[in-house]
Parts: sequence; C-alpha cells; structure tokens
Amino acid sequence: AILILDFGSQYARLIARRIRETSVYCELHPFDVSPQFIREFSPVGIILSGGPASIFTNDAPRVPQIVFELGVPVLGICYGMQAMAAQLGGEVENAQTREFGYAELLTEPCRLFQDIKDRINSDGKPALDVWMSHGDRVNKLPPGFTAIAFNAATPFAAMADETRRFYGVQFHPEVTHTLQGKAILDRFVHDICDAGYDWNMPDYVEEAIGRIRARVGGDKVILGLSGGVDSSVAAALIHRAIGDQLVCVFVDNGLLRLNEAKQTMETFSRNLAVNVIYVDASRQFLEQLKGITDPEQKRRTIGREFVEIFQQEAAKIENVKWLAQGTIYPDVIESAGSHTKKSGLIKSHHNVGGLPETLRLKLLEPLRELFKDEVRELGLALGLPRDLVFRHPFPGPGLGVRILGEVKYEYTELLRQADAIFIEELRNAGWYEKTSQAFAVFLPIKSVGVMGDNRSYEYVIALRAVQTEDFMTAQWAELPYTLLARISNRIINEIRGINRVVYDISGKPPATIEWE
Ligand code: XMP
Repeated sequence: AILILDFGSQYARLIARRIRETSVYCELHPFDVSPQFIREFSPVGIILSGGPASIFTNDAPRVPQIVFELGVPVLGICYGMQAMAAQLGGEVENAQTREFGYAELLTEPCRLFQDIKDRINSDGKPALDVWMSHGDRVNKLPPGFTAIAFNAATPFAAMADETRRFYGVQFHPEVTHTLQGKAILDRFVHDICDAGYDWNMPDYVEEAIGRIRARVGGDKVILGLSGGVDSSVAAALIHRAIGDQLVCVFVDNGLLRLNEAKQTMETFSRNLAVNVIYVDASRQFLEQLKGITDPEQKRRTIGREFVEIFQQEAAKIENVKWLAQGTIYPDVIESAGSHTKKSGLIKSHHNVGGLPETLRLKLLEPLRELFKDEVRELGLALGLPRDLVFRHPFPGPGLGVRILGEVKYEYTELLRQADAIFIEELRNAGWYEKTSQAFAVFLPIKSVGVMGDNRSYEYVIALRAVQTEDFMTAQWAELPYTLLARISNRIINEIRGINRVVYDISGKPPATIEWE
C-alpha cells in the first residue's frame, strides 16, 4: 500500500483519490503519526502532501525522519517537496510573489516524467502544463538531487534523486488542471514503487462491511434516509453489513419532489427489504414555515424541525446506539475543514453535525472518505438502481429554497408538477446526464397572459440547469431551444396557475445554483 502523509493541503484527499483511481490501495494519515506506525504500515511508497505552512514558521510540520530511512520511494508534493528539500540538506526561500495557476515546465530525462509530456517546445524539450499554488520554493537542491523540471520563474520545479528514488514536485499532480498529473502519479506508484493492483470496489465493499460490523457489534443504528444518493448508499451499505439492526427514518417534509416519498419507500422498503419508518410531517413543516420569508431562516426552521421529528422517532426505537449519516468527503471539507481557510458563510448546509449531540448517539459515517463518484460506484456495486445512483443532488431544505419567499402548500404543488415535467423532458432528450443539476423554481409573482380569449394573471416558473464539476462554480446549460420550447409549452398547458416560464442564464459565480 501507499502511505500518504497529510500536511494539511486541501488537496490531500484528492491525492488519495487519484492513487485509488490507479487501482492501488492507499491510506491518508496526519504527517505526525508515530515512526512505529509508519514502519508497521510497511508502505511500498510514501507521498508527502502539500500544506498551508511555510517551513520558516517555528512549528512548521516536519517529515518524520523514518520516511527517508525505510528505503522506499518518496514523492513530495509542494510543501512536501519543500520540507523534504530542507530536511535533506537543501534550501528553501520565501519567494517574493505567490505563484498560482497554470505554468509551463520543461522537463529533463528522468524516470518520473519519461514519455510524459503535453508537447515538445521550440528547443526540442518536453513541456508539461501544470497547476501551481505556492509561496515558498526550493532554491538549492539537497545533495544527490538534480532538477528534473524548471521554467524561468522556478528553476527547481521538480527534483529527483534517482538512486534513493526520492522525488519532489512543486506543482500539484493531483488536480485535473495538471493534465498529465494522473500519468505522473501512475508512474510513481506502479513503476517507481512497483505497487500492486490491489484496490477495487468489490474489495472495498467487503472491507467496509467488516469495519461496520466490528464497530457496531450488536447495537442498533438509526439513519435518516432522504432518498438522495449519499444517504441511500449509506443505508444500502449498512444494511448489507448489519441487516435489521439498521432502522431508517424517512421524513416527508412536504418539500419533496413529485412521487419522491413513494419511490424511496418502494426501493428501500420493498425491493431491498430495509427497515424504513415513514413519517408524514408535511403539515408540521408547512405550519412552522408560515410567514417566514428569509432564506436562511427557512433553512434553520426546516433543519430544526427535522431534528425534532427525527429525535421523536429515535426515542421510540429501543437500544439505538448509533446515528448513521451519509456524509461524504466534500461535506467534511466544506463544513469545517480544520485545514481549509475560513470562507464566509454563503449558505448554511445542515446535513452535517447537530444531531449526534442532541441524541447522544455515536456517529457512523461509512462514506466519510469517499468522493461523489466513488459513492456512486459503491452504490452500483451494492445493487442500487442506476437512476437513483446518478440522481442530481437535491438540497436538504428541498423545495423550501426553490419557492422564493414564504412557502405555501399551493406553491409546493405547482412547483412539484413543473419540476417533474422539466426533469421528464430532460431525461427523454438525453440531457439529464449532460447536466449536473436541473430543477424548477417557483416565483410568487403574477404576470399577465392570454389563454384562448381570456386574460390570465398567474405565477412564473424559472428553469435552472447547470453544468459543474464541483458545484463551487457552474455554467448554465445551453439547452436546445426546441427542448426549452417543449418544456415551456407543457408546463403552461398542463399546470393551471402558471402562465409564464423563463430560463435562468446566470453562472455561478456571481449567481448561486439555487435561487435562495
Ligand atoms: P448553491 O446554491 O450554494 O448550491 O450554489 C451548491 C450546491 O449545494 C446545494 N445546496 C444545499 N444542499 N442544504 C443542502 O443539503 C442546503 O441548504 C443547500 N443549499 C444549496 C445545491 O442544491 C447545490 O447542489
């Protein structure tokens, strides 16, 4: 296995993911694990991640000395390279300006980059397009090392000691912006470390099941099933591990999409024989939302109400010791991220945290280390339907944040129908898979129209469809006009109460994906 030591980079997880994509088992651990741990892990190679620290600060994280003494290949990335250089006798300097973004590097013959390039430059040297993000940089190589990549701004953009098989790269091979990044990591783990092909989803399922059984023992576990991908995969996995010791609670908050409750109950309760308690709390939620127009206050109200109902249900089940959640790795980073810089609150998400304290339950989060695409792969391996596994994300507060201003039952009914038509037409046209998220938004304003010989004065539906990799930035989807026309016609003709449909052509940023 490959051991990745985490120096606090926001990309550390990504390194793990890339390594797993090359079918190699790896684990990510804090940089300060004990030497004994590292020795017993017996890695075939070690990767040192980047990190926010500067080696010039007093308590700058150090690479455990044993890393250099095990005789296995080591790859230092960004801060990992700097720490490696400094500790092995080289020098690091505090560069005047930060280097951030794309850079073109020229490479020298070496094992790490052999036959890997984006192009040959005018001097006949292989060139790589890489993604940089650093302040400090190496300005003197340690003994035994040579520079294997450089450009005018960064003379030591990568270094190698081929004898000891120590490598350092100042850029980030783990991000997709570094086009050859995957090839470089593949080269490191398969050729340089000679790691076996020992990571695949069926094995992961077995291991995950083993871990869940070992942790939970004979206790009961409760899980809030939302019908979304994450909680569904978590439920299927835990059910596979402990069967009826898992009790799921599905809370219908009245803010779900058309037929969502029915479909979820069918999939889990009927097809998978999972123990699911259905709670219809739609009235209660609408009651609590009365008069509230502020988006964040709506979120808080919905979140609080959910916790309350969930607690009541949990109290009815005896011997529950665990609360399971479908938290996935991006939630972990976004919600707190001890390492990531504090960014201003734009929207509060309520799917992480809160519940365990009030319920005094232990937390079971079997998907905590997985990325979305890995969760989907896991879902398929567990036999969940494709439609469910490749579903667009749906926010916890549901239609509550897709009805602008105050939420009313009448609005939820109109929006549900419009949304269903939109999604059905997208699916029929093959556009559902081509968009990352698509939905209808209800605008509680009336505009004038004409239906036959009569004047109409009805509500507006906005359609939103975006394409995005990470939901942090997004482009509006260029849906064909003919498709938009068909959707608009159907919505206006089939739903009494809507006489106008508009398409949202705002990107994120500056707009957000949801309207509230
Ligand atoms: P925004 O609107 O912030 O959305 O661009 C980014 C992604 O987050 C989802 N979202 C939420 N998910 N609770 C959730 O569970 C929320 O309160 C919430 N607000 C936004 C949104 O659907 C999109 O996928």
